[in-house]
Amino acid sequence: MKIGVLNGGGDCAGLNAVTRGILAGAAHLGVEVIGIRNGWAGLLENRTVRIDYNMFEELIGTGGTALGTSRTNPLKRKDGLQTVVNNMTLLGLDCLIAVGGDDTLGVAAELWRNGQKIIGVPKTIDNDLAGTDYSFGFFSAVDEAMRMIESLKTTGKSHGRVMVAEVMGRDAGWISAFAGIAAGANAVIIPEFQSDPDEVVRIVRERHNEGKSSTVVVAEGVKFVSREKAERDEFGHELIAKAQGETNASWLARYIEEKTGLETRATVLGHTIRGTAPNSYDRVMTSLLGLKAIEAAHEGRYGIMVSIRGTKIEEVPLSEGVQKKYVDPATWNEMKKFFM
Ligand code: F6P
Repeated sequence: MKIGVLNGGGDCAGLNAVTRGILAGAAHLGVEVIGIRNGWAGLLENRTVRIDYNMFEELIGTGGTALGTSRTNPLKRKDGLQTVVNNMTLLGLDCLIAVGGDDTLGVAAELWRNGQKIIGVPKTIDNDLAGTDYSFGFFSAVDEAMRMIESLKTTGKSHGRVMVAEVMGRDAGWISAFAGIAAGANAVIIPEFQSDPDEVVRIVRERHNEGKSSTVVVAEGVKFVSREKAERDEFGHELIAKAQGETNASWLARYIEEKTGLETRATVLGHTIRGTAPNSYDRVMTSLLGLKAIEAAHEGRYGIMVSIRGTKIEEVPLSEGVQKKYVDPATWNEMKKFFM
């Protein structure tokens, strides 16, 4: 049996660990694994690498992806899907394990609908995939964001300043909410709910009157600044980090300073939280996800996504992997109780 593995979309902590998990399982099952370079681009251009457990043994704790990734969308290329199918046949792949977020898994689901044997593994720091409790990479990104927000808080306290941190999360505010709570931020603004900068101003002012400085977190997906002219990737998403002009953080910092007269500073954490090494949760869960994916491939269960359900790894239909998951009102109402 010969199985291909590809990583698509934004990188995250745990991608090498999941490949290692797949390779550990493959070693036990006597399955050959081929690494596809740079996401779907590798299957359009036939760029592959032979991989085995020995090559990934020491990579469990590394960030990024040794296979490489890209935001290439075969559905946007002329005859893209057919080229992918042809190359899978040429490579003699019995199955393809696609590791990615909703974009990558969307292409995977399309291939499955077109008769290809596909298994999905959900990853994204944004944690916005419905078919899994958590997507791997999320908690490592949250840990890194938490550490940086804490640093901002420390310097903010020293100077009596308001600190505003902008955190990744294009459509969903999961990272901002979790990191904000974990770091003890005083206000968090996420894209799912109406963003009221005056509510932030009220919190900051009240805290100042009590002799306290404030730390504010804003998700990059919030629309304080217009990005209508922003460049888009092949899946149609705004390239927020490439947008010109003000960021949410700088806009909000200026607003707070104007309204309160308090010295305010803005920081965009950006890609730093994505490049971090996986924490223990992401190392262990990816290892189990990898094992489950190769086991499903070996036993001929295709069109599925392996997913985290509590402490267990389960299989769900691949079509669920492309559904989005946002911070829901009930969860947010609880979380908000910490922002004061
Ligand atoms: O992978 C998800 C994500 O990190 C989003 O949070 C962010 O908006 C986007 O990717 C950034 O993409 P790129 O690395 O292409 O700039």
